[in-house]
Amino acid sequence: MSQNIITIDGPSGAGKSTITRLVAARLGLRYLDTGAMYRAATLHCMRVGIRLDDPKAVAGAIKSLQLDVELVQDGPVRVRISGQDVTDKIRTPEVTRNIHYVADVMEVRNWLVEMQRKIGLQGDLVTEGRDQGTLVFPHADLKVYLFASPEVRARRRFNELKERGMESSYDEVLKDVSQRDHLDMSRELGGLRKAMDAVELDTSSLTPDEVAESIIKLAKGRLAAKTRKIDKSKLGLK
Ligand code: C5P
Repeated sequence: MSQNIITIDGPSGAGKSTITRLVAARLGLRYLDTGAMYRAATLHCMRVGIRLDDPKAVAGAIKSLQLDVELVQDGPVRVRISGQDVTDKIRTPEVTRNIHYVADVMEVRNWLVEMQRKIGLQGDLVTEGRDQGTLVFPHADLKVYLFASPEVRARRRFNELKERGMESSYDEVLKDVSQRDHLDMSRELGGLRKAMDAVELDTSSLTPDEVAESIIKLAKGRLAAKTRKIDKSKLGLK
């Protein structure tokens, strides 16, 4: 694989988005948020008005989804459905609640995985999700698995909602986090798992900056070793 690929997987609230964006910006690599793709697919199915608990209907609805994913330097990935920007609309609680119906459907996953691999072929990439290191890019140069306790992740989410002026209780948010963990981990295809060769990082008591810096250090080491290997093979050395 000539492209440099770094995968960052983990449960929701582990800090993936912030950390992945920091890593991408500091290494000058493109950043992909695959959760945004599943969110856009869910919004599309909701708009089509099918029964979301019917996998055949979801697979049918996805055929009419014209999804455009724009990777932005130093910002969130922009997603468009049939040319309309839905970057903000995919972040509502309704979409979040319904994602699992759509993300569980094999046709949806196969289609999005193919799109993600095509994006990977276009150049160096830092990509975050649940299955990036296990399924989408099994030969990635560096695989990271971020985690934190459910309580820490719920506290972060609770504070985030409060900052946005959204009413919630910590207990409710904790229940929500545990439910999403269960749904993400029990998914047969593309479920949340740590790749055997992934580096595990507990973000519970670290700042995003500290985590990003450890990943950057690891990435620089791996990418330098890869360059040396490529140079040697060009010279016909072992
Ligand atoms: O990362 P984010 O929380 O936005 O992802 C939303 C949901 O999309 C996840 O809870 C999961 O159900 C789904 N997802 C997935 N595979 C990915 C990324 C996200 O199934 N690679």
